[in-house]
Amino acid sequence: MLVLIDKKGRKHLVDEKIEEYHSNYGVLDLTNVKPGDVLETHLGHRFYCVKADLLDYYERLPRAGSIILKKDLGAIIANCGIGSGSRVVDAGTGTGATAIFLANIVGKEGKIYTYELREDHIKIARNNFESAGVDEVVESKLGDVREGIEEREVDAVIFDLPDPWLAVDKAYNALRTGGYIAAYNPYIEQIRKAYIAMGEAGFKELRAIELLERGFEIKEVGTRHRTRNIGHTAYLAFGRKYNQNI
Ligand SMILES: C[S@@+](CC[C@H](N)C(=O)[O-])C[C@H]1O[C@@H](n2cnc3c(N)ncnc32)[C@H](O)[C@@H]1O
Repeated sequence: MLVLIDKKGRKHLVDEKIEEYHSNYGVLDLTNVKPGDVLETHLGHRFYCVKADLLDYYERLPRAGSIILKKDLGAIIANCGIGSGSRVVDAGTGTGATAIFLANIVGKEGKIYTYELREDHIKIARNNFESAGVDEVVESKLGDVREGIEEREVDAVIFDLPDPWLAVDKAYNALRTGGYIAAYNPYIEQIRKAYIAMGEAGFKELRAIELLERGFEIKEVGTRHRTRNIGHTAYLAFGRKYNQNI
């Protein structure tokens, strides 16, 4: 896939196999187009061409509910020690944005097992996995994690679902010793229940956090915080599995 960037910075994701693209600024001939080319429409407007990357897909994924934003994804990846070759359980799948990001980190040596209750959401997510090119790394499963997680010895379990406290014990069974759990929830009541359930299930190193991102406007006249920042997204709770009875 290619991204065509117009003069206003708007991005148009297009399949490199198509020969013509009809934009608001006129028709572009895409025959033999490659990243780095500057194209001109039949009306004389210019577009810059780059190869599409993960973020280009992430921003345009057809949605099945809300997705985890980059600031929180970064925190999940960093606090769960997820890296190349990691095996991770993700639930629920939703749009698949989290699974796509995780797949990009774990790579072909790793695996993402993503569980989803709703068949209509799975359908959307599977198409997204294919267009993001991660369908070999992601295994998409129809299932309720409150009833069980099939995998064992995984490195991390990530929950973005309304009642993670009902699946915390299933995560404990799925994790290897030393593995991590993360819960992502928009309400304090939810994260409190998840945190308490993690402690009761035997998880250690419990932490609950919220990340706030504040952008800046840097202009000739001066620099200040953006007035339209990302507000609240969700709270995060983390835990780690090990037996401390020593
Ligand atoms: C907010 S979405 C997840 C979004 C996803 N993290 C992303 O970034 O695209 C929550 C999804 O969890 C699914 N879900 C809710 N409870 C579940 C459960 N117990 N087991 C599996 N999936 C569940 C819902 O159907 C919904 O699609």
